[in-house]
Amino acid sequence: MKRNKIYDVLKSGKPDDVVSVCGWVRSRRESKTFAFLVLSDGSSQATIQCIIDGNVSGFDLMPKCQTGASVQVDGVLKQSQGKGQSLEVHASSLKLFGEAPAETYPLQKKGHTLEFLREIAHLRGRTNTFGAVWRVRNALAAGVHEFFQKRRFVWAHTPIITANDCEGAGEMFNVTTFDLNKIPRTPSGAIDWTQDFFGKNAHLTVSGQLEGEFLALSLGDIYTFGPTFRAENSNTTRHLAEFWMIEPEMAFADLKDDMQLAEDFVRFLSGWVVKQCPDELAFLYDTYKGMSPDEIVKLSESKFAHVTYTDAVDLLLKAPKKFEYPVKWGTDLQSEHERYLTDEIYKSPVIVTDYPKDFKSFYMRLNDDGKTVAAMDVLAPRIGEIIGGSQREERLDYLERMMVEKKIPSHDLQWFLDLRRYGSVPHAGFGLGFERIVQYLSGMTNIRDVIPCPRSPNSIEF
Ligand code: 4AD
Ligand code: MG
Repeated sequence: MKRNKIYDVLKSGKPDDVVSVCGWVRSRRESKTFAFLVLSDGSSQATIQCIIDGNVSGFDLMPKCQTGASVQVDGVLKQSQGKGQSLEVHASSLKLFGEAPAETYPLQKKGHTLEFLREIAHLRGRTNTFGAVWRVRNALAAGVHEFFQKRRFVWAHTPIITANDCEGAGEMFNVTTFDLNKIPRTPSGAIDWTQDFFGKNAHLTVSGQLEGEFLALSLGDIYTFGPTFRAENSNTTRHLAEFWMIEPEMAFADLKDDMQLAEDFVRFLSGWVVKQCPDELAFLYDTYKGMSPDEIVKLSESKFAHVTYTDAVDLLLKAPKKFEYPVKWGTDLQSEHERYLTDEIYKSPVIVTDYPKDFKSFYMRLNDDGKTVAAMDVLAPRIGEIIGGSQREERLDYLERMMVEKKIPSHDLQWFLDLRRYGSVPHAGFGLGFERIVQYLSGMTNIRDVIPCPRSPNSIEF
């Protein structure tokens, strides 16, 4: 089908160019002798106005071209008289693909709440807001590859179905072909996973890191970019049961290198998205007052604050604010603590390092103090944790001891231990929650509004 995208028409079209624009009607104005149709087609934040004279073929279809209807307008570009619009289409023909009856079409004009739009996720991409968010999300995804490919990191596809629990938190969805009404049992009454599809209890992955480590220990630098799953019962504005994660892993690297990569990465994505999506970000800032395009540019040039967990706890203990959860060395930072650090103390992203080993994952490298690990979290204003990472424990005996301490069964992770038996090297990596960075840079406050089909407890529409 011959078609010109609105983005291209507005960017490089010239008066008298012959064009064919396909899209959905945003609004219309009509008289007996002519009509205006404003179309959007998802290719750009801008819409295009079409003027349809009464003698144009298809003019009789105008009553059916209501908001939401899909049409094709062929015509010639002309300089627009109205302000704001640079070019408009003077139609030579109008074709109607599909009607959208006003009595039932749920997207009438403006002013729908984000909550309402979540209920019609299949149509919300047609609004200014979600068109912008989906294009920003796309640009950031392309930026991820741009950043790593330029640095010669290999994109590695780690499995979605796995038998390991990387984070050791037991927050996994099972993958089984058992008839749930007739689950095979062993003589002792336990579930007999040997009879299941994989002969083992399998899950959806919570992280590609463990497999990412073996790829890094053969290719040097790798990254994953794919969906991950957590069956945590968190109904918050920052948690999804299915989210996308980017996990770089570097051989011959320590925590400092890891922090540098994380900072460079976030800075790069900020600069990149402003270049790719200036109109989208301007619209989102006008509407939701998250971060202005200028602030995003500033972020792309800024240095992040660095603080150890122990110093962060001291700062929080001295804070005049009363926290709901008390601050105490040895317990994890709550989001109110994280936000106090980013929003009140540093007013910038901050990297917190060297957390107590007790509440961090088994694979993190033990520091010389014997109490903390070489971990780092990047906290962003408004959002909290966007990145979690660490230097990995490359010493076999230390890793084995930590696995015993944290009750991680080593039987099925011998391959992971092999990486420490054969040619072990210092290595480090992190995971960036993709939806969290989309949230941060787009200004959307609810994570359900930055992924087309959000998955959360009791919610699996679409
Ligand atoms: O801190 P996490 O749990 O770290 C890992 O999974 C490591 N294996 C990563 C690594 O070192 N390769 O998760 C990493 C990031 C978090 O910082 C957060 O941004 C995001 O993933 N995240 C979630 N995003 C949305 N919904 C959830 N339920 C999330 N859980 C984690
Ligand atoms: Mg974390």
